[in-house]
Amino acid sequence: MKGLYTALLATAATGVLAAPSPVENGPITARAAAAACATPVTLSGNPFTRKIYANKEYKKEVDAAVAAISDSSLSAAAAKVGDVGTFLWIDTRARISVIEDNLKDVPCDQLAAFVIYDLPGRDCAAKASNGELAAGDLTTYKTEYIDPIVKIFKKYPNTAIALVIEPDSLPNLVTNKDLQTCKDSATGYREGVAYALKSLNLPNIIMYIDAGHGGWLGWNDNLKPGAQELADVYKKAGSPKQVRGVSTNVAGWNAWDLSPGEFSKATDAQWNKCQNEKIYVETFGPLLKAAGMPGQAIVDTGRNAVQGLRKEWGDWCNVNGAGFGVRPTSTTGSSYADAFVWVKPGGESDGTSDTGATRYDSYCGKDDAFKPAPEAGTWNQEYFEMLVKNAKPAF
Ligand code: GLC
Repeated sequence: MKGLYTALLATAATGVLAAPSPVENGPITARAAAAACATPVTLSGNPFTRKIYANKEYKKEVDAAVAAISDSSLSAAAAKVGDVGTFLWIDTRARISVIEDNLKDVPCDQLAAFVIYDLPGRDCAAKASNGELAAGDLTTYKTEYIDPIVKIFKKYPNTAIALVIEPDSLPNLVTNKDLQTCKDSATGYREGVAYALKSLNLPNIIMYIDAGHGGWLGWNDNLKPGAQELADVYKKAGSPKQVRGVSTNVAGWNAWDLSPGEFSKATDAQWNKCQNEKIYVETFGPLLKAAGMPGQAIVDTGRNAVQGLRKEWGDWCNVNGAGFGVRPTSTTGSSYADAFVWVKPGGESDGTSDTGATRYDSYCGKDDAFKPAPEAGTWNQEYFEMLVKNAKPAF
């Protein structure tokens, strides 16, 4: 595909390229990709039978990290991480600018994967990932975030795309609804997610709404309200055809099928029957269906190789001792799980450990959190090296 792209560019430069074809509505690079992937994609069923595209942004981070490692066997192992297909987080309006440069190079048989993550009042129950839009600023979310993204995706009807929609947002409305910040965010989350689902409902896109993890909506008392909350927003969006279910364990640490589960011996374990992600997706899926939405799941296994590290199930920030987990695959052994995926780009921080920072969250200062850690989303070289060393399977 690279070859074809260069050839077309050369032709265009010499002015030999004749009238533009009907699909041409973007720069030459977009036209090249459209020409390479000749037919529109209509996704239905599990999209992860396609390989996930290893996006350039993560590859750049990993390549820079590899260059900084002197140990040759560690750097050889680390180099392989850049070839893993991961989700690319569009966490600000400015970040929209990287979408097209990645989409134009996605091989026709692969799947581009993005996280939609910029709701007003983002991360209402924590501080580390507070976003750029203030609670209530739904207009900016719609017109300056979702609409421009939709416009770009519409230029690539021949490319398959998977989306995770707004991690943590609706789960926070179920379990943290008494916090003032989450009260302030609630309407914006529901309307924002519904708007995203409705607007991004294109034939070449499959969407998963975030559903936290087994230690969050998996508590017996949260299961039904959780399914109801997600299904309500799904219906508010007009029950979009391209929504296939939920994402779980995003940026999380839970094992897929460890039994007994990591926290099965905790005193409160009796109140949670979803002690691993497999039980969670197989319990939550049917409840979603009963509430009126599709119940398939994708599960983040990016950093869950090592268990027994967290003091409490709720510890979410830069867990120390973690390792890269099972590589993305659609072979899950569960009819409810479409795929194991890497949503959180391993090596990017969950939150700063700098107690003086505006976005400092005390979870990032806990005993079981890796320190020092930079701002959420920025690279943590030592943490990345640890993930490589502790990877299971090894690289
Ligand atoms: C965190 C950050 C966000 C980043 C994402 C992936 O949620 O807040 O900026 O893109 O992690 O690393």
